[in-house]
Amino acid sequence: MILFKEAASLTEHINKLKQKGYSIGFAPTMGALHYGHISLIEKSKNTCDITVSSIFINPTQFTDAGDFEKYPVTLGDDILLLTKAGCDVLFLPSIAEVYPNGTSAAQHFEIGEIEFLLEGKFRPGHFQGVCQVVDRLLNIVKPGKLFMGQKDYQQCLVVKRLVQLTDLPVDIITVETLREASGLAMSSRNLRLNEQQKKDAAGISKMLQYIKQNIPTILFSELEKYARNYLLGSGFTKVDYVSIADAATLHPVRSIKEGRKLVVLIAAFIGEIRLIDNVALAD
Ligand code: PAF
Repeated sequence: MILFKEAASLTEHINKLKQKGYSIGFAPTMGALHYGHISLIEKSKNTCDITVSSIFINPTQFTDAGDFEKYPVTLGDDILLLTKAGCDVLFLPSIAEVYPNGTSAAQHFEIGEIEFLLEGKFRPGHFQGVCQVVDRLLNIVKPGKLFMGQKDYQQCLVVKRLVQLTDLPVDIITVETLREASGLAMSSRNLRLNEQQKKDAAGISKMLQYIKQNIPTILFSELEKYARNYLLGSGFTKVDYVSIADAATLHPVRSIKEGRKLVVLIAAFIGEIRLIDNVALAD
């Protein structure tokens, strides 16, 4: 695996590979890698000649400075995992390399109301930060395919919107969430959970499955209320949202309608640690 710290050298390397006709797949990350990330690398390796990953904890997407500071850093292990997975190139930029004019001068993207729903409502500015870093990384790496995890469902929609807006020639490939045996979605934030919290955290996927199974027979508002109360009674300290929503717009939905795809999304805290997960429903 070749490691780059400078954007210009990486772009030069990629340009040479592209001239030789190689296709480029890209899986951006913030490190603290787990098998969910590795599945993005594997998907890329299955469909692209060269797989690039990046590790960059992006300050502009954190609403809470404390969360940014406490974001887990496991660089040595990350490099081992990526090497073992056969990743070809790793980009490890500094903040100045990603934001040469400073973070406060970063561009604003008009991505519409998706910016302000669900995650956007509870983490104001978060999706602007995601757009800023993804736009910059895409312009440096210039991949044909971008691999993103479905656990961050709204982020995938936001990045699709960004790519439409900026006309970048890249396909976005959404990769299914990997789970622990308990159902807990793999996440870098799980590293901050103790054993009991880890057991409790599986409550989110339990409630997603509960809603999925009962959606044909129980009122949507009752399902959301049940899930919220269940989580608060089983180790969660705060629930930001339990939402049955339109899979394309993330508008809340109250009933099943033919042809409309639905997704159920949950965000909740165990102590200081905020976890999110979702499940898409069949039509
Ligand atoms: O999902 C993440 O890890 C981040 O939001 C991303 C896409 C790498 C941008 O910083």
